[in-house]
Amino acid sequence: MEDYILIKPTMEYAEQIAEYRKAFLESGDSMDGTGPLRRMTDPGEYISFCETCEMRATVPENLVPATQFLFIRTFDNKLVGMIQIRHELNDFLKLYGGHIGYSVRPGERRKGYARKMLKKALPYCAEIGINKVLVTCIAGNVGSEKTILANGGVYESTVYEPGAKVNLKRFWIAINPIC
Ligand SMILES: CC(C)(COP(=O)(O)OP(=O)(O)OC[C@H]1O[C@@H](n2cnc3c(N)ncnc32)[C@H](O)[C@@H]1OP(=O)(O)O)[C@@H](O)C(=O)NCCC(=O)NCCS
Repeated sequence: MEDYILIKPTMEYAEQIAEYRKAFLESGDSMDGTGPLRRMTDPGEYISFCETCEMRATVPENLVPATQFLFIRTFDNKLVGMIQIRHELNDFLKLYGGHIGYSVRPGERRKGYARKMLKKALPYCAEIGINKVLVTCIAGNVGSEKTILANGGVYESTVYEPGAKVNLKRFWIAINPIC
């Protein structure tokens, strides 16, 4: 059995999704890579929303299709991280958001999980036809920058995002296409 797996959200993890959300609300950290989890108090509603976001036919008009994964530590079936893969880039994502967002549960940081989670997500990107992955992070987010670099990220530029009033560093990860 693998030590860690990426799986799509299901009701089996409803309680852990709610706990994950609570931990981030308490820590005040940004809930990156979770889509609209911050504003959804009902994990069931969140799980169905994630499903509708995967396909162009059902994703809300203002969003691009995206796949949500839970990063599960298999020995104790614990949700330790979350990662979202956007299938395409709209104007905002092209400049600021990138293809991938992720986060690790506050109590589980500095154990290499972000690095492992991003690594596991890259083959899925290739599977859905993304061979050059744009990943961005706020300048000064050392943990995220190291995560991107450890996964082959090549720095391209830094841009100012006026909405959040932050400088964002942009990196590209090239992955081998699946033949
Ligand atoms: C950024 C984040 C995902 C890192 O998760 P993590 O599981 O702690 O990261 P890892 O343990 O895989 O660490 C990756 C590297 O960053 C380093 N690192 C992690 N957090 C760090 C921190 N706060 N300060 C300095 N270095 C840090 C690790 O030591 C490791 O370095 P190494 O490759 O030299 O060993 C996590 O802090 C988080 O969820 N933050 C809030 C959301 C967020 O910022 N998401 C990223 C959006 S782009």
